[in-house]
Amino acid sequence: MRMDRDIAEVLYTQEEIQRRVAQIGAEITRDYQDKDNVVLVGILRGSYVFMADLSRHLDFPCRIDFMAASSYGKGTSSSGQIEIKKDLTDPINGAHVILVEDILDSGNTLDYLSKILTARNPASIRIATLLDKPERRVKSVTADYYGFVVPDAFVVGYGLDYAEHYRNLPYIGILKPEVYETP
Ligand code: PRP
Repeated sequence: MRMDRDIAEVLYTQEEIQRRVAQIGAEITRDYQDKDNVVLVGILRGSYVFMADLSRHLDFPCRIDFMAASSYGKGTSSSGQIEIKKDLTDPINGAHVILVEDILDSGNTLDYLSKILTARNPASIRIATLLDKPERRVKSVTADYYGFVVPDAFVVGYGLDYAEHYRNLPYIGILKPEVYETP
């Protein structure tokens, strides 16, 4: 692939990701099979690939909705200020909400969104993230379901971007520093 040349190291192959996503799906299915009114909320844009794969491993009826959020001052550190670019389409009062993320990093995004959504009186809120980067945590947010704990490196692919590119890379890799470092 043309994008391969910008990747220093493959962290998780397509096969490894698929295996893990299936396991998370089975875990969530066990926990939610008796629940009605479940809604998966994907946090755009990074979650779109994980959402598509995870949702097809859930063996119970659920709704799918999306929010788009972005934080200012991303890069080496995030400012903690979150902007909602797109809100949910439908109400969530009384619903069992599962927030679906590609990565839990500082925790600023999910801390903010959890608070906003809790105010709408859902029956419950849980977090499913493919990647967890606990070294960078600023807010005390923990994932109820996670795929992999990743080191503090610049990871891209499977929904994760650098400057809006590499989201369509089918695996997760570490970006070569020369791609994002200015000479
Ligand atoms: C990324 C990612 C999470 C968030 C995690 O989104 O998708 O939403 O950062 O970081 P945090 O835990 O430090 O808040 P980003 O704001 O880059 O937008 P994107 O999903 O469109 O890539």
